[in-house]
Amino acid sequence: MAARVLDGKRIRDEIKAELVGKVRALKAAGITPGLAAVLVGTNPASEVYVRNKVKTSAALGLFSEKIDLPASTSTLELLDLVDRLNHREEIDGILIQLPLPPQVDQSLVLNAVDPAKDVDGLHPINVGRLVSGDYGLVPCTPAGVIEILKRSGIPIRGARAVVIGRSDIVGKPVALLLMHEHATVTVCHSKTRDLAAVAREGEILIAAMGRPAFVAGEFIRTGATVIDVGINRLTTEEEVRRVFHDPTGPLRLLAEKGQVLAGDVQPEDVKKRAGAYTPVPGGVGPLTIAMLMANTVSAAGARRGRPAPKSSDEC
Ligand code: GUN
Repeated sequence: MAARVLDGKRIRDEIKAELVGKVRALKAAGITPGLAAVLVGTNPASEVYVRNKVKTSAALGLFSEKIDLPASTSTLELLDLVDRLNHREEIDGILIQLPLPPQVDQSLVLNAVDPAKDVDGLHPINVGRLVSGDYGLVPCTPAGVIEILKRSGIPIRGARAVVIGRSDIVGKPVALLLMHEHATVTVCHSKTRDLAAVAREGEILIAAMGRPAFVAGEFIRTGATVIDVGINRLTTEEEVRRVFHDPTGPLRLLAEKGQVLAGDVQPEDVKKRAGAYTPVPGGVGPLTIAMLMANTVSAAGARRGRPAPKSSDEC
């Protein structure tokens, strides 16, 4: 049977429609959720992400502000900005787009964000709350992965889940969220022995290591749900030929656009082996901004004594 495609755009639209109602209710109570998005330098991918974050905020009726700083910005200048944003009443969410330039002490800056406004869920207080299961603001991409699974009716409780990748921004938080949803979770990475055999144990397989098409057919248990978190930009014909078994369409795209997006999962193998999977593009990617909006709306409520209902029922 053909694998089911988990459509991230449909789920994103569903979440955005729900958020419109929540924003309306907050506005009726005199609260307009506000987001400040900080971009340092001119990384083209970061520019696109931040522009889309600000655009989506406006579409949902949020107040948003884009703060552009030169690539030469120092740690002290950023700390000063974060301090000012922390003190501004109308700002509920502070988003520092990563990566920051090399001269900036990234953790010092992220740790300076008021945890109540940390819509990226990267402050140690929010990381600790995620570990303990008493969580509020959770990193956006991992939160999106859970939304896709739940809204697609994929059972998580009791399932064997394998996460490939152990980054602070995806691998670790998604593993914790799956654990709180009662999956049996294995986290593996580049040093794992016989990675394919471990991955094959996953009824849910999360690929989040940032290597194009690394997860080939032998990594995928027949019928598994495969969530591909990778967003890799291929810019050469050689890369495209390595990733796609049939490169005709992608090569045409490369010629037209100068780049082709590829996930961490081999796109043709997953169709043959998986029961369900997220495509790239159109899978997890669309959820990330929707979850940032959800975090901003929930921060706006929580900061004024209207916390969102909890979803974890850990035991
Ligand atoms: N850069 C790539 N992913 C992310 C993310 O989730 N948050 C931020 N702030 N920057 C990123």
